[in-house]
Amino acid sequence: MWLNFILMSENNHTPNRYTITAALPYTNGPIHIGHLAGVYVPADIYARYLRLTGKEVAFVCGSDEHGVAISMKAKKEDVTPKEIIDKYHTIIKKSFQDFGITFDNYSRTSADVHHETASEFFKKLYEQSDFIEETTAQLYDEEAKQFLADRFVIGTCPKCGHEEAYGDQCENCGSSLNATDLINPKSTITGSTPTTKETKHWFLPLDRYEGFLREWILEGHKNDWKPNVYGQCKSWIDGGLEPRAVTRDLDWGIPVPVEGGEGKVLYVWFDAPIGYISSTKEWAEREGKDWEPYWKDENTKLVHFIGKDNIVFHCIIFPAILKSHGGYILPENVPANEFLNLEGNKLSTSKNWAVWLHEYLEEFPDMQDVLRYTLTANAPETKDNDFTWKDFQARNNNELVAILGNFINRVVVLTNKYYEGVVPAPSNFTELDRETLDTLKKYPEIISTSLERYRFREAAQEFMNLARLGNKYLADEEPWKVIKQDEERVKTIMYVALQIAAGLAVLSEPFLPFTSSKLKEILAVGSSAEETSWNDVSTKETLLTAEHKINQSQLLFRKIEDSEIQKQLDKLEAAKKANENENKVVTPQKDTITFDDFTKLDMRVGTIIEAEKMPKTKKLLVLKVDTGIDTRTIVSGIAESFKAEDIIGKKVTVLVNLAPRPLRGVESQGMILMTENKEGKLVFVNPDEDGVGNGEGIN
Ligand code: MF3
Ligand code: ZN
Repeated sequence: MWLNFILMSENNHTPNRYTITAALPYTNGPIHIGHLAGVYVPADIYARYLRLTGKEVAFVCGSDEHGVAISMKAKKEDVTPKEIIDKYHTIIKKSFQDFGITFDNYSRTSADVHHETASEFFKKLYEQSDFIEETTAQLYDEEAKQFLADRFVIGTCPKCGHEEAYGDQCENCGSSLNATDLINPKSTITGSTPTTKETKHWFLPLDRYEGFLREWILEGHKNDWKPNVYGQCKSWIDGGLEPRAVTRDLDWGIPVPVEGGEGKVLYVWFDAPIGYISSTKEWAEREGKDWEPYWKDENTKLVHFIGKDNIVFHCIIFPAILKSHGGYILPENVPANEFLNLEGNKLSTSKNWAVWLHEYLEEFPDMQDVLRYTLTANAPETKDNDFTWKDFQARNNNELVAILGNFINRVVVLTNKYYEGVVPAPSNFTELDRETLDTLKKYPEIISTSLERYRFREAAQEFMNLARLGNKYLADEEPWKVIKQDEERVKTIMYVALQIAAGLAVLSEPFLPFTSSKLKEILAVGSSAEETSWNDVSTKETLLTAEHKINQSQLLFRKIEDSEIQKQLDKLEAAKKANENENKVVTPQKDTITFDDFTKLDMRVGTIIEAEKMPKTKKLLVLKVDTGIDTRTIVSGIAESFKAEDIIGKKVTVLVNLAPRPLRGVESQGMILMTENKEGKLVFVNPDEDGVGNGEGIN
């Protein structure tokens, strides 16, 4: 704490201008809770908090519309990339709006301003001879007649052995790779093993930036970057940086704007981060502002919010590009998060193992804050974390409803009941009253300290502690009892409680923006940052003065029932099943038979009348089956799927004219038709109709 204080005062200025970026999402699908938890909610909390403290903020984002992820999706759906990006850009943009993510601008990398900005960067670096131009052998898919890079090729990671590493990156260990580094590469377009073919590309010689990166990150940010981010950077730099190709042989992307670049495009990770700059330009243009200070003034603090798979691009490659271009500031911090899992499994767009934001809102309308809060309280800040619906329910019912909602409701209802909604004038403060008001004043700083260190979970918990303080105060003071003996005292109690409620209205804004607005409406206080700023909670003598009139209570949170949670769990279970079925390899059809062949089979409905385990075997049951013709013995290999006693009386389909054969010394006189269910268990193929008699033929 002290050390921090000294370091901060040595730096000597808290910057007033911030450029906050949130990773540009790929427009190859909608967004889910993992995106929100890892990037957008923390970025939004931070941006809202800064605005409340009077900072100038440009909070920018946009859609990442180039790259192989988009081409692949378009190929799969047999539409153009443009159709894909338009569709998902719209869906994603709406999800952000719906969840109250307050981007100052949400752009897209297909915008003209972005093509121009990215081209300008490339040309400048090219003209400065900051690239190496080289013809090398690259992976090539002969069948698709296409070069393979990035997500068009998977193979074994040379660093960690993960078998599904992409051509530019291993998502398991975070290594950044070249496609030719992969062991056993396979084309994701045709599944074939690629050959190689010569082609010319431009490479960014990252090795030339080693000294700069060492000094800037390893020496300069040892103490203020998160250990996971710093550690990854250190291991790349120590592991030796190599030149990386920043162009691709693809037809979707920004054309390479220099001679010899025909038919080639910029590597998506070259253009996408420049999208932050383009988005800032677009915003400034619209708002009549100057974009340059946001990217070029040394006093501006640039912060990139990303997920851990993006660290190398934001800490090594993009800074190298900015440095090489010159004139740009570098990120002050890159608070990357780890991953969020869902009910114990990795979130996956392709496997539909996700909670999609647009679907969440259909199931839980107007409950954005509950999800924002749950994701913050359980954010994967220092390690991967699990989202469970049970935890979601518990956070809602035990914290939002039972603590925050309950406190506000009591204060507002009692104020309306005793004083017709008018804030009473306090008289004598007790020791506890003073202490409580003093503690309230400390909260902006307590929460700020966590936020400034990008500890959002801690910040949200501290916020909730303020509501706890309010709840405890009321429980200890019991105004509803005291009112019977000492009406004057109750005025002071309610006054103190109302101050806490007003503090909560302000401090909740970054975390629970929808609730914050409602709360401000209930308390009839201004809702803009100018009217009630973060620090007012510490500095203003009172937040709600005597005589101020508040409004009626409104429901802030509602309890979530078990049945609602079960419904979500069932939905996930169904997604899992559907996915398993989709991946199941269907055995190919057998050779054709004639109708005569078919009529040779004599299949009948029968009933199992006795069943016993065959001694000393694992799989076999000895059955007595009434076939309608006779009662016969059938030995069946089904003991792993059924208990003998459970199948007595069951109707089954029997092939009755199969030549008898001995099994472990017992003659089996026929065969019971079986199939397998989704879990791989055997089930009977049987007529599920009542009244079908034994011996009835199947034809
Ligand atoms: N689209 C990338 C992803 O989803 C993130 C791009 S961030 C940017 O992983 F810096 F390139 F914009
Ligand atoms: Zn790896």
